[in-house]
Amino acid sequence: MMVFVPVGKASLFIVVHLVLVLLTIFFSFLGSASASAEEAAALFKWKSFSNRGNPMLTSWILQPNGANSSNNISKDIASPCNWYGVTCINGSVNKLNLQESSMNGTLYNFPFSSLPNLEYLDMSLNKLSGSIPPQISNHSKLIDLHLQGNEFSNEIPHEIGRLKNLQTLYLHFNSLTGSIPEEIGQLRFLSELDMSFNNLRGPIPSELGYLYNLEYVDMGYNNLSGPIPPEISNLTSLDFLNLSGNNLSGLIPPSLGNLSNLFNLLLGRNQLSGSIPKELGNLMALDRLTVSDNLLTGSIPPTLCNLSHLEYLYLDGNNLSGHLPQGLCQSGVLNFLVVRHNMFTGPIPRGLNNCSSLQRASFSRNQFTGKLSEMFGVFCPKTLELMDLSNNNFYGELSANWGRCQNLITLRIAQNNISV
Ligand SMILES: *[C@@H]1O[C@H](CO)[C@@H](O)[C@H](O)[C@H]1NC(C)=O
Ligand SMILES: *[C@@H]1O[C@H](CO)[C@@H](O)[C@H](O)[C@H]1NC(C)=O
Ligand SMILES: *[C@@H]1O[C@H](CO)[C@@H](O)[C@H](O)[C@H]1NC(C)=O
Ligand SMILES: *[C@@H]1O[C@H](CO)[C@@H](O)[C@H](O)[C@H]1NC(C)=O
Ligand SMILES: *[C@@H]1O[C@H](CO)[C@@H](O)[C@H](O)[C@H]1NC(C)=O
Ligand SMILES: *[C@@H]1O[C@H](CO)[C@@H](O)[C@H](O)[C@H]1NC(C)=O
Ligand SMILES: *[C@@H]1O[C@H](CO)[C@@H](O)[C@H](O)[C@H]1NC(C)=O
Ligand SMILES: *[C@@H]1O[C@H](CO)[C@@H](O)[C@H](O)[C@H]1NC(C)=O
Ligand SMILES: *[C@@H]1O[C@H](CO)[C@@H](O)[C@H](O)[C@H]1NC(C)=O
Ligand SMILES: *[C@@H]1O[C@H](CO)[C@@H](O)[C@H](O)[C@H]1NC(C)=O
Ligand SMILES: *[C@@H]1O[C@H](CO)[C@@H](O)[C@H](O)[C@H]1NC(C)=O
Ligand SMILES: *[C@@H]1O[C@H](CO)[C@@H](O)[C@H](O)[C@H]1NC(C)=O
Repeated sequence: MMVFVPVGKASLFIVVHLVLVLLTIFFSFLGSASASAEEAAALFKWKSFSNRGNPMLTSWILQPNGANSSNNISKDIASPCNWYGVTCINGSVNKLNLQESSMNGTLYNFPFSSLPNLEYLDMSLNKLSGSIPPQISNHSKLIDLHLQGNEFSNEIPHEIGRLKNLQTLYLHFNSLTGSIPEEIGQLRFLSELDMSFNNLRGPIPSELGYLYNLEYVDMGYNNLSGPIPPEISNLTSLDFLNLSGNNLSGLIPPSLGNLSNLFNLLLGRNQLSGSIPKELGNLMALDRLTVSDNLLTGSIPPTLCNLSHLEYLYLDGNNLSGHLPQGLCQSGVLNFLVVRHNMFTGPIPRGLNNCSSLQRASFSRNQFTGKLSEMFGVFCPKTLELMDLSNNNFYGELSANWGRCQNLITLRIAQNNISV
């Protein structure tokens, strides 16, 4: 057998080539169609476990004509891409946003392995319960994982460290127990981590110090114990750190003063001891500093007066002593000053008398002294709403000048030597 004519050979070649091209296109179409059909079938199956009657998921049906078998893929053009909460890229599920969708049940049967292109999973504000399954970590592409506001319990799986691309991890408002897995230190791209309002115990893993992209960390209201790892000072992008409401002990690491982007530093309601490190005066971006209800001693470092953006300063419920520094309001933006329930002595510094930004100030339950008529009253900040001077050693007469404080709602002077 021979092919005779060069022209025929050429056209045969062209035809064969064309067929190959068409077949390639056809199979690639089939490929993506079957991929999404498989994803649809997998999601539909998961829905039927515990969310069959969920009115939010009525669009989650297999097409066409109610066909529900994933076996007959070539005929079944099922695609989840138009379903509620589903976003596809190139016909494959990329985002699943089922926030506040009345979901219940667990994630045990969630088809993690059938959604290879999932990058964004938001199941927040539902009633999902049980453990966070370790299989979730097979989703190495996940960028955002939002499971907050559910009823998840048990431990955070160690496998979570395999979600290498994760940028936001929200687990707050659940009932998670156990300790924070140190594998969290492998999530090198993480920028937001919220684990607040759970029942987590044990130490804050020092491995957190490897997450150089972290900007937002909230671990408030757990039962975390041990020291604040000084490695946190490596996180130079950090702008929000909330460790309040735990059982953390030891010193406030002076190296926290290196976090030059920190906007909120919230360490209240722990067992922290020692003094307030003077290095915190280097936190030039700081807007809010809370160290309330700890076991802190010593005096307020004058370096805190350098904080030119500080609006909220809460030092109450400690064992702090000495005089308040003169320049606490030198920035001119101090709004809330709460130093109640400490062992402070001396007068209210003159620098505070004309702090025109002051809105609420509580000096109560200390051993402050001084003549009341020389404080405030003469010049009264327009913004002032609350002034609590009770339980101190102030003396003198209550001046009528207080009446000039236009916005003053509450003035407390009980338990002093003040005559009215
Ligand atoms: C789950 O939700 C569906 C409706 O969305 C409801 O019919 C079912 O009873 C719920 N199951 C549980 C365990 O709450
Ligand atoms: C698929 O459909 C058949 C008949 O229409 C039904 O018996 C079967 O339960 C369905 N399967 C699922 C998973 O819904
Ligand atoms: C697939 O669908 C075709 C036509 O609807 C049908 O003839 C065939 O039996 C089906 N195959 C399977 C495995 O269900
Ligand atoms: C979609 O697929 C095309 C062709 O395979 C590819 O070039 C493109 O990058 C894909 N888009 C995304 C967002 O993955
Ligand atoms: C997930 O990964 C683990 C290994 O960590 C593997 O044993 C398991 O089979 C995977 N699960 C799925 C559903 O792919
Ligand atoms: C912390 O632990 C104590 C004692 O085990 C427990 O009473 C308390 O409820 C826990 N608090 C939180 C927020 O988990
Ligand atoms: C913190 O940074 C120092 C150097 O800046 C480095 O030696 C150390 O390994 C880092 N620690 C962590 C836990 O990232
Ligand atoms: C910080 O955490 C505490 C829980 O201890 C919470 O009450 C507070 O709202 C959090 N602060 C901010 C600003 O999120
Ligand atoms: C808090 O930490 C102390 C040690 O610093 C420990 O004795 C105590 O049991 C812890 N409390 C809780 C509730 O974990
Ligand atoms: C961090 O702060 C500590 C103590 O304040 C200091 O010794 C150290 O050099 C600082 N590290 C960096 C990287 O700035
Ligand atoms: C910070 O405050 C201290 C003490 O009040 C002062 O000596 C120092 O010069 C200040 N530094 C800056 C940068 O303002
Ligand atoms: C505060 O210090 C005094 C004496 O310095 C001590 O008796 C008291 O127990 C301390 N209070 C707290 C809450 O640490």
